[in-house]
Amino acid sequence: MLARVPYLLAVLGIAFAAPHSAPKIKERIHAPRDWINVGDAPSNHVVPLRIALPQSNFQELERHLYEISDPDNVRYGEHLSKEEVEELVAPHPDSVHAVNEWLAGHDISEGDCVRSPAKDWITVHVPVAKAEAMLDTKFHVWKHAKDEDSVVRTTSYSLPEHMHAHIELIQPTTLFSRLTGYRATSHFSGAQEHPAATSGTITVNGHEVDASCTTTITVSCLKQLYNAVDYVPAATQKNSIALTGYLDQFANFADLQQFYADQVPAAVNSTFNVTFINGGVNNQTLSAAGGEADLDVQFALGIAFPTPGTFYTTGGSPPFIPDTDEPFNDNEPYDAWLDYVLAQKTLPQTISTSYGENEQTVPESYAKRVCAGFAQLGARGVSLLVGSGDAGVGDGDPDPATQTCLTNDGRNATEFLPGFPASCPFVTAVGGTTNIPEVAVDFSGGGFSNYFARPSYQESAVTEFLTKQLPNGTYEGLYNPAGRAIPDVSAQADYFRIFLSGQVVSIGGTSAASPAFAGFVSLLNDARLSHGLPPLGFLNPLLYTRGLSGFHDITSGNAPGCGTPGFNATVGWDPVTGLGTPDFGKLKNIVL
Ligand SMILES: *[C@@H]1O[C@H](CO)[C@@H](O)[C@H](O)[C@H]1NC(C)=O
Ligand SMILES: *[C@@H]1O[C@H](CO)[C@@H](O)[C@H](O)[C@H]1NC(C)=O
Ligand SMILES: *[C@@H]1O[C@H](CO)[C@@H](O)[C@H](O)[C@H]1NC(C)=O
Ligand SMILES: *[C@@H]1O[C@H](CO)[C@@H](O)[C@H](O)[C@H]1NC(C)=O
Ligand SMILES: *[C@@H]1O[C@H](CO)[C@@H](O)[C@H](O)[C@H]1NC(C)=O
Ligand SMILES: *[C@@H]1O[C@H](CO)[C@@H](O)[C@H](O)[C@H]1NC(C)=O
Repeated sequence: MLARVPYLLAVLGIAFAAPHSAPKIKERIHAPRDWINVGDAPSNHVVPLRIALPQSNFQELERHLYEISDPDNVRYGEHLSKEEVEELVAPHPDSVHAVNEWLAGHDISEGDCVRSPAKDWITVHVPVAKAEAMLDTKFHVWKHAKDEDSVVRTTSYSLPEHMHAHIELIQPTTLFSRLTGYRATSHFSGAQEHPAATSGTITVNGHEVDASCTTTITVSCLKQLYNAVDYVPAATQKNSIALTGYLDQFANFADLQQFYADQVPAAVNSTFNVTFINGGVNNQTLSAAGGEADLDVQFALGIAFPTPGTFYTTGGSPPFIPDTDEPFNDNEPYDAWLDYVLAQKTLPQTISTSYGENEQTVPESYAKRVCAGFAQLGARGVSLLVGSGDAGVGDGDPDPATQTCLTNDGRNATEFLPGFPASCPFVTAVGGTTNIPEVAVDFSGGGFSNYFARPSYQESAVTEFLTKQLPNGTYEGLYNPAGRAIPDVSAQADYFRIFLSGQVVSIGGTSAASPAFAGFVSLLNDARLSHGLPPLGFLNPLLYTRGLSGFHDITSGNAPGCGTPGFNATVGWDPVTGLGTPDFGKLKNIVL
């Protein structure tokens, strides 16, 4: 009892000192489509509340990021250290103090809090009943109409008015995330016994390419097409590449060996490291291998070999089991992964992620905060590649009668649906092409963000597209012409020959394009590191300026969706294939 006295006094002291204010709605969303409220959440169910404190100096971080990523700036390549980034995203002491008082007022002590290294996130595990009191809300169990997924969420929460300036957001509250792999299942063409029988070579963009590449994409095809045949990585002591895995997608070691024997014989017996995050696993039972994970690892590592590789397997979001008070980990996977990587002293120079969802299914405040995490990675010298999505401008459906691109803002209006995290301006979004010569693949995700404004590095490329290609109000009202435009670049995205559970299969998606593009970025990083230069870091300011001449422009094809034919690939940047596909040889000369 005695031990509690000082604590009680402290709480009372705070209660007198703290300004009182009535709860005011911090965030309110429309119940997202396809989620059904099936009843009250059990009051003893434990919620891992993650509290984001405002990053008071984020604009300064952004300024540094753009300076060190601009090849024409004297500071190009002067990436920041972990500590320098943390200093820039640290919350203001007033916010730390105010949040501490608010937590103490709810009997939550320092010992109950887990803080991120920059102190900009606090995690506390509280039962539903307490979370409801803190947030002046009611949590419910929501079930997804299309599967058995259940989550404990609310559609609005409140904070005392004086706390609004000190807390940016709290999740999981309004986040009904449906992160999925961008492996277009419709492009999963099943078993493929033999590589295409086509023999001989064809000449594309001045390079010899095996004719078989017109029907089957292998590591050699990509190296031929993208002009990297003769490059030998030399900075393997410093350079590394990584792939993210979520949702029980396991990368299989045996499948990788078969893939190497088939396509990269010199790599046989080499492997990758696995980093387990937030309870993630990597089940090696052959039948448990994941198409997404195997695709990502096989192509990224196959291209970058012998560059060391890492597979991050992140747990989280397991199914909610009602009527249990077992705490479980229901952190959303983006934060769990970011938490982990941002806490590391050294990071892989190139990372690819092939997962995402419609931007509108992620609350804006959360999307912005996750995007700010990607900016931190860029500032530390990481090039982050993200698949642009596999559904064209929204749902991939050209038929106005069956399209499903409805806004979630209560209006149910038809609008194009850009993908997140591709819509974050601090990642490099990778769209898809197919065939040789290349054209846009019809599922390549593209469009314009409704959350993020167009970054200045895209201004000239995107304005040219809008004024020349979309005159006279084409698609007016369906997209946000002032938004961050997607994708930035593209790569082949269909008929990739991989090994999955011991079988050869043909697979596609911007999930294939992103790790493939990342493989070439990793080789560019190798070239820089071999010459004693820093890695490329955040790529976009380079790509839209000096990098322009290092791309094959893709000028035909389109990607339908939302009851329309979608946008067209055209001369210059377009919202289907971005700047085009890479010419490694030219890009290497540009970055050295
Ligand atoms: C791989 O390892 C096996 C068994 O140790 C060995 O026989 C084989 O030569 C190795 N292959 C390569 C390419 O290193
Ligand atoms: C691995 O996957 C297999 C096949 O799905 C499953 O039977 C097995 O229980 C899993 N192992 C673990 C440790 O989860
Ligand atoms: C795996 O990690 C170990 C220890 O950090 C490192 O020595 C090794 O080079 C890594 N291997 C690969 C393939 O990344
Ligand atoms: C929008 O759709 C939802 C779910 O399908 C429905 O409940 C709601 O009534 C619709 N709202 C309008 C304004 O049509
Ligand atoms: C746009 O409208 C102008 C004036 O009506 C017309 O001359 C022009 O051809 C139109 N452009 C396109 C691409 O439809
Ligand atoms: C795309 O190109 C086709 C064929 O040239 C043209 O008819 C159509 O209007 C274009 N669509 C857009 C949105 O630019």
